[in-house]
Amino acid sequence: MQVFEQLEGLRKQVKQWKANGHRVGFVPTMGNLHQGHLSLVKIAQQHCDKVVVSIFVNPMQFGPNEDFDRYPRTFAADQQALQTMQTDALYFPSVEQMYPGGLQQSKVVVPPQITGLLEGASRPGHFDGVSTVVSKLFNMVQPDVAVFGQKDFQQLAVIKQMVSDLAMPIEIIGAPIARDQDGLALSSRNQYLDTEQRAIAPKLHAALLDIAQAIASGNHDYESLSAAASSQLIANGFDVVDYIQVCDANSLLPATNTTEELVILAVARLGDTRLLDNLLISDF
Ligand code: PAJ
Repeated sequence: MQVFEQLEGLRKQVKQWKANGHRVGFVPTMGNLHQGHLSLVKIAQQHCDKVVVSIFVNPMQFGPNEDFDRYPRTFAADQQALQTMQTDALYFPSVEQMYPGGLQQSKVVVPPQITGLLEGASRPGHFDGVSTVVSKLFNMVQPDVAVFGQKDFQQLAVIKQMVSDLAMPIEIIGAPIARDQDGLALSSRNQYLDTEQRAIAPKLHAALLDIAQAIASGNHDYESLSAAASSQLIANGFDVVDYIQVCDANSLLPATNTTEELVILAVARLGDTRLLDNLLISDF
């Protein structure tokens, strides 16, 4: 596996691959890789001849009181895991290389309807940071295909919208959520949890399953279902429920009785740790 810290080398390599007729896949990450990230690499490999993974903890997408400083950075282990996966290239830019003019420069505008909701409402400015760094990474890597996890359902929707709005010639593939055996969605932030919190954490996924089950049995009072689930999460030991909502899987607006494709999106906190999860009803 080739490791590039500088853009020049990466560009040269990708150009050469493309000249040889190879299809290039890309998996952007913030590192601290787990099986969820690696499943994305596998999917990219199924669709492409060469796969580039990036590791960049993007300061622009963290709020002032969020966990940018303590976000786990485990480069040596990540490099080893990617090597084992036979990843072709790892791109590991510095903050200075990504934002030579500082963080305020070149924010990408994305449609407000989708970014103002849910995660966008809980984390103001978050999706400006995500769409800026992803569009920059797309320009740097110039992939044919990019793979994102459905774990960050709204992020995937924002990226698809951005690629469509800006006519970027990149196919976006969504990958299923990788979970621990007890249902907890894998996340780099799970390691912030202490033993007691870790025991509570899978109840978020269980709450999503309960709502899906109720919907499958004909209950379409989404607001009451969400309110009951939220109270139950607090009773189960969660400290705060940022949101738990049945949404239209395409617009991410609250679902109505005429909505065809449903997704249940939730974020709940254990101490300072935000756990994010979702369930597509079609996958249920
Ligand atoms: P990060 O949280 O490192 O996630 C990188 C990719 O892995 C994202 O597409 C995310 O949805 C996916 N992922 C994380 N946990 C997963 C799981 N349990 N199952 C399946 N996929 C999972 O998301 C980001 O980084 C950043 O916002 C980024 C897109 C890199 C931009 O900075």
